[in-house]
Amino acid sequence: MLRTLFITGLFMAASMTTAQGNSFDQPASSPFGKTKSGEAVELYTLTNGKITAKIATLGATLVQLHVPDKDGKLADVILGWDDAAGYQSDDNQYFGCTTGRVCNRIAKGKFKLDGKEYTLATNNDVNHLHGGLDKALSKVVWKARPYANDKGQGVEFTYTSPDGDEGYPGNLTVSVTYFIPTDNNALRINYTATTDKATPVNLTNHAYFNLAGAGSGTILDHNLRINADSFTAVDDTLIPTGEIKSVEGTPLDFRKPVRIGERIDQVDKTSTQGYDHNYVLNAPEEGKPMRLAAVLTDPASKRQMRVMTTEPAVQLYTGNFLKGQKGKDGKTYAHRSACCLETQHYPDSVNHPKFPTTILKPSDKFTSQTVFQFSIAGAAKE
Ligand code: GAL
Repeated sequence: MLRTLFITGLFMAASMTTAQGNSFDQPASSPFGKTKSGEAVELYTLTNGKITAKIATLGATLVQLHVPDKDGKLADVILGWDDAAGYQSDDNQYFGCTTGRVCNRIAKGKFKLDGKEYTLATNNDVNHLHGGLDKALSKVVWKARPYANDKGQGVEFTYTSPDGDEGYPGNLTVSVTYFIPTDNNALRINYTATTDKATPVNLTNHAYFNLAGAGSGTILDHNLRINADSFTAVDDTLIPTGEIKSVEGTPLDFRKPVRIGERIDQVDKTSTQGYDHNYVLNAPEEGKPMRLAAVLTDPASKRQMRVMTTEPAVQLYTGNFLKGQKGKDGKTYAHRSACCLETQHYPDSVNHPKFPTTILKPSDKFTSQTVFQFSIAGAAKE
């Protein structure tokens, strides 16, 4: 009897009805392996019946994203692994993770804040990259709170990074919420953060996209549009010089859709070894918080992804360091077989007072939103 009541209770908690009478289900979870120190990692599934995302508590990482093509055929369009072990291997180049506390680079891992100098790990030659080493947000296990309502399914991940982690000041509490709406083929990511000491924060998701399906070849035939007239010029170690340069007349001009492979040779033999550039996004439309960052299209499958964000910049990275590692279902991830569109503030902002600030103060709350919106090219306006 008690057991029956318990099971009925579980069932009721998992499948409920809103005030409007719509039924919705709590996102399901399943075990995804363990960290090297033995912590359990869970994988959550969000779906609206048309697109499906799977997200792991390790690094609040987007592990799978299934999206339909022109014939309704689904493909998983992001790179990743089948279990937590893959994400902890040397082959993991930040696949799908929540990246921070500060994504991208900080020159020589140093910055001054309120008269004090801070030193971070240098894990990218002489520079600090993507939040550092084993306490970076991509490397730790987050708490998950799945939820569902009449608008869709979501899961909120939270993590408190203690004062001094990776050299950063302040106890930083971060929340990342992934959400798939019922009525829209979109994956929304909402970030918030609070701190008890002033500290730099710059958060992004580092998903590697291939709209033909992860492991199916290069992205050189994808068309890309980036809504940016300019980019942050960088030195040989990919640290901004401070100069904001126009894309006009350069291979970085994606203001109209261009095949990614069209001019990539022109940036191949440079310090970026392909596209690895931070674009300064054009202003949002009057009164709108979100701006269009980019539109990525696979002409064969006609899968199209619009990236919208409240962030001022997007890093285009064309998988220049992918090395043929084996990922999900034993698929191989060759050089340039995916690209990242990482919405964020400019790199090394903490050392560039003229860039939009990345400093979060105890009296403020960091908020940021990015939407990956999927459609069929030609079926809706590009
Ligand atoms: C990108 C970065 C690249 C590279 C990559 C990870 O965000 O711009 O330079 O570090 O991450 O391999």
